[in-house]
Amino acid sequence: MTHIIDGKAFAKGLRAEVGRKVAHIKEAHGVTPGLAVVLVGEDPASQVYVRNKGKQTVEAGMQSFEHKLPAETSQDELLALIDRLNEDASVHGILVQLPLPAQIDEEAVINAIRPDKDVDGFHLSNVGKLATGADGIVPCTPLGCLMMLKDYLGDLSGKRAIIVGRSNIVGKPMGLLLLRESCTVTMAHSRTVDLPGEIRRADIVVAAVGRPKMIQGDWVKPGAVVIDVGINRIEKEDGKTGLVGDVDYESASQVAAAITPVPGGVGPMTIACLLHNTLQQACRLHDIPVPE
Ligand code: GUN
Repeated sequence: MTHIIDGKAFAKGLRAEVGRKVAHIKEAHGVTPGLAVVLVGEDPASQVYVRNKGKQTVEAGMQSFEHKLPAETSQDELLALIDRLNEDASVHGILVQLPLPAQIDEEAVINAIRPDKDVDGFHLSNVGKLATGADGIVPCTPLGCLMMLKDYLGDLSGKRAIIVGRSNIVGKPMGLLLLRESCTVTMAHSRTVDLPGEIRRADIVVAAVGRPKMIQGDWVKPGAVVIDVGINRIEKEDGKTGLVGDVDYESASQVAAAITPVPGGVGPMTIACLLHNTLQQACRLHDIPVPE
């Protein structure tokens, strides 16, 4: 029987832990962490995310600041808002929801956020820290995946891990995190030759390609742990829409030792890790230790 990794329950526990620590720093230091989320445009999926982020931020005892800007916002207008948030002492974390409309240069916006208020870990200085092994902010989705892997497997050292997908948000930081845990890491992508063969050698599979059910059960080594980052909306046979991952869950769950479902796996962990990162930044900005 495969073990289903319950990301929803794990995230609930992590949010409660963050809430407890927030209560402590409020009490002991008079600091209330604040998270500002910026949404440009009206992408429906992004709107749902932003709403959930706001709700869970408040539930954890933090302040939530939402900035919704019209789709035609110019880069200068967005940069001006970021400047104000950089200066605002009640804001400890700034997240600009991606993707941004075409007229805005994403890289310029990400790097305009003060690195000590970056809660996505996308600023070049935080990317550099992760790459060199220094202490910094780690991107939320890979951090959530790592927490679930360590919770299930314990020590990861020496494990063969494959990451399918090389995005800046998930694939690349995931590879660096697993390397830091002393895994032997393979980064696979659209040009990889014999992807099934590469995946069959792995003890840990992290799928982050955005292709519905691409990874088949017979590509998975028996006993491997499968983390499915994909969230793909598909039309089902009955005409309704449904969410599926990048892994064919039915067949992969027959062979994997453990697997994350979609939905209810990686998804809920991302926001929980965002709250975790916001707490880290608030403590760092006020030079107070992160509570145990
Ligand atoms: N869009 C999809 N995932 C993310 C994320 O983790 N952070 C931001 N800022 N935008 C996203």
